[in-house]
Amino acid sequence: MAYNTSLIEIPGNLIKKNEIKQISQLSALEKAKDLILNGDLVAFPTETVYGLGADATNGQAVKKIFKAKGRPQDNPLIAHISNLDQLERVVNTSLDQDLEKILAKFWPGPLTVILPKNNMISDITTANLKTVGVRMPSHPVALSLINLVNRPLAAPSANTSGFPSPTRSEHVFDDLAGKIPLILGGGACQVGVESTIIRIEDEKIIVLRPGGISSEMLAAVSERKVVTKVNLEKNKPLAPGMKYRHYSPETEVFLYNGEKEKLKKFLDKNNSKDIALVLTVETIDELKMNNDMHFQSNIKIIELGSQTKMEKIANRLFYILRELDKSDNDLIIVEKISEEGIGAAIMNRLYKASSAKL
Ligand code: TXA
Ligand code: MG
Repeated sequence: MAYNTSLIEIPGNLIKKNEIKQISQLSALEKAKDLILNGDLVAFPTETVYGLGADATNGQAVKKIFKAKGRPQDNPLIAHISNLDQLERVVNTSLDQDLEKILAKFWPGPLTVILPKNNMISDITTANLKTVGVRMPSHPVALSLINLVNRPLAAPSANTSGFPSPTRSEHVFDDLAGKIPLILGGGACQVGVESTIIRIEDEKIIVLRPGGISSEMLAAVSERKVVTKVNLEKNKPLAPGMKYRHYSPETEVFLYNGEKEKLKKFLDKNNSKDIALVLTVETIDELKMNNDMHFQSNIKIIELGSQTKMEKIANRLFYILRELDKSDNDLIIVEKISEEGIGAAIMNRLYKASSAKL
């Protein structure tokens, strides 16, 4: 069925003031609740990226998520809760002290924990796994909606599968208009990259996806050793043209590792193409100062942000990729940044979005 998708913006002042109660009373939220309880989908803002929500206990509803996104059925979804009491409806385990401490520190917030699943969660949500990813988001619209529905919400990022995640309500509209009934708008997402996904293994915390909470932050709270399972570089498809790309605009993305000679050669070779060159302000200043590059008119320089403000880079990353995809570029080149802190999440997304180094 084709929908006439409504996009309803929730007032920014209520979001800023974190007015969960007042947001819950808005008619848009009532509408969202009715849709979800009727087994339909609603896109909503979280602090990481926009999510596409359905009742996680209703398999038929959750199936619609996979269809709207064009997502492979074997890729499980995260269940979102709004308070700790709801946790027992999602997982089938008790928390040890260390995990309690971690959740007390980072929830609500951009952290997802993989735990044994409760039977109430549909097998469609978890793609038949015996485990479930659970997260308590901090965006007041997300919390209001989950409170109202009073069921865990299965929600992947609200983008077409493979595209950069949506960090503004327009991004959701661009991807999913006609495919879902309602989008709740709640401003630009604050974190801008998805949640960190962890699994506990005895004395270790295994990071399955770097995200809004860095390994360093986890290590500062937990007694456990934090181990990152994802080898950032290896996550990137090796053969150019292989179609398994992720977080990725349609325009081809290349990574620049700071080797100026290589960049010059690459730009010379592609001098008939329109190129977006996305650089940190430090690199732009350096290139300017040394008069290193005489950029041709086919090259457009875009600021990625400052190397000293990595949170800001995370916040703008998907927005920049989507904007560049809309303008007519043949190639996008993005500067690599440090993999410390939230840089690990940023580089993980960039490796996946890119087809090759220069
Ligand atoms: O920040 C976020 O996490 C956003 C917002 C909407 O909450 N959600 C999000 O969902 O990024 P999605 O579906 O785009 O990514 C979820 C990731 C997928 O890579 C999936 O494979 C993994 O979580 N995942 C989910 N359940 C899992 C499980 N039981 N075991 C291992 N991985 C799981
Ligand atoms: Mg996603």
